[in-house]
Amino acid sequence: MPSHSFLSKSSAPGKIILLGEHAVVYGRPAIAVPVWEVTAEAAIAQNERGCGCTIIAHDFEREIQLSNAPEDEPLALAARKTFALVGLTAEPDWTIGLRSTIPIASGLGSGAAVSAAIIRAICHQLNVNIDDATISQLIYECETLHHGTPSGIDNTVIAHGMPVWFIKGEPPVPFKQDKPFKIVIGDSGIMAPTKESVGDVRLGWLHEPEKYERLFDAIEHLVKEGRECIASGDLKLLGEIFDRNHTLLQQLSVSHPLLDVMVQAARDAGAFGAKLSGGGRGGNMIALVRNEEACAVKNTLMRTGANRVLVTTI
Ligand code: PMV
Repeated sequence: MPSHSFLSKSSAPGKIILLGEHAVVYGRPAIAVPVWEVTAEAAIAQNERGCGCTIIAHDFEREIQLSNAPEDEPLALAARKTFALVGLTAEPDWTIGLRSTIPIASGLGSGAAVSAAIIRAICHQLNVNIDDATISQLIYECETLHHGTPSGIDNTVIAHGMPVWFIKGEPPVPFKQDKPFKIVIGDSGIMAPTKESVGDVRLGWLHEPEKYERLFDAIEHLVKEGRECIASGDLKLLGEIFDRNHTLLQQLSVSHPLLDVMVQAARDAGAFGAKLSGGGRGGNMIALVRNEEACAVKNTLMRTGANRVLVTTI
């Protein structure tokens, strides 16, 4: 076999949280959906140098030799955990090439998607079937490195690849949807590690537990109302719920002036409603739109300072 002959390839989607971020860490429900317009992809090739397994992250021009990688190296961890799960004791002579179009540290689940792609490619290559729940658990274990105390929503939606109603520690529940709707995703271009915003919310909660519990309860109420709107197709009310969720996220102090400007610009351009999505302090905002307004909202966001804008259909 020639060296680097192609063997297996797998991909995983990005994700957005429609409603409920941050409160979900404290046991409240959240709604998240996969975003297939951006993906992480892992491709395995045999190498005949006999030097074990190397991961090449093409986007960062990084090469990680598994045998020398630190224990907490997240990409190496995903591979090692998968080898352990399938009972592979000797490292195979593979090159795992990684490419991703998911912006990092922006609330689109890039870390979880990259882990998912590695895990699936290895299982595919070894002809081992593992279910989505097990993949989700493996990604979760890798995610604790990026996030500290993740709720588990990113790994769940990305491993299952479907819209989910999620409560921490419980299996995900698919939700009813009356009709498809469009979401415009605007990337502020500001990289904001989720670990930091989650850590700051925790400090606030420790300092003023009653205030934060009230905010989490209010978010929970919106998430439940939002689920009903999705089931009945009431996009106007769903948009208002996005707006109210954004206000509560501002009160948790996880917004950013640019996100606030982009959210308002999307509303002014005709969106039903808009909010930040994910950890906040930067990263992405989302706007709920009719087909007719998608283009105008996209153009407005670009003019307002978005780095990149995607449109996805849920
Ligand atoms: O990965 P992000 O930035 O989409 O954030 C995940 C959402 C949070 O609720 C802020 C954290 C979590 O673990 O659920």
